[in-house]
Amino acid sequence: MDKKLVKAINEQITKEMYSSYLYLSMAAYFESIGLEGFSYWMKLQAQEEIIHGMKFFDYLNERGEKVILGAIDKPPVNFKSVVDVFKKTLEHEQLVTASINNLYSIANKVNDNASTIFLQWFINEQVEEEKNAMDILGKLKYVKAETAGMLMLDKELAARPQPILDPKAQ
Ligand code: FEO
Repeated sequence: MDKKLVKAINEQITKEMYSSYLYLSMAAYFESIGLEGFSYWMKLQAQEEIIHGMKFFDYLNERGEKVILGAIDKPPVNFKSVVDVFKKTLEHEQLVTASINNLYSIANKVNDNASTIFLQWFINEQVEEEKNAMDILGKLKYVKAETAGMLMLDKELAARPQPILDPKAQ
């Protein structure tokens, strides 16, 4: 495989692991303010990010390339509000989308068709990831903190289905 693409995919693994860490930190914030449904949603999001990272991990191995893991940055630990968390989630997912698009461009440039096909799953996934954050932000517009509406939304997020833990099954 093209060395630049391998390097960028290795960096993407680290970014996915950081995403997991970021969402786990957000889950900890929700626990600290007593919103267990929001926390549960974020914990599942953190699990999904590990699955994303593992998909890249397995892909490099399948192509006979070496996985090189990078350092994971410390995530933020203080958030201003529930809305602040989902604004940051959306911003973060937009960064990830740009990063995936960059991988796709590199794969195209070096005519690595297997990689462009592999990356299509992530391009679709990012549409979903951004939509999830936008949907919750949209609902948050209608509810204020410390209201019954917030508790109802907390209950709704507690019903998020578990991600599929076998990364190859997605
Ligand atoms: Fe791995 Fe949330 O994108």
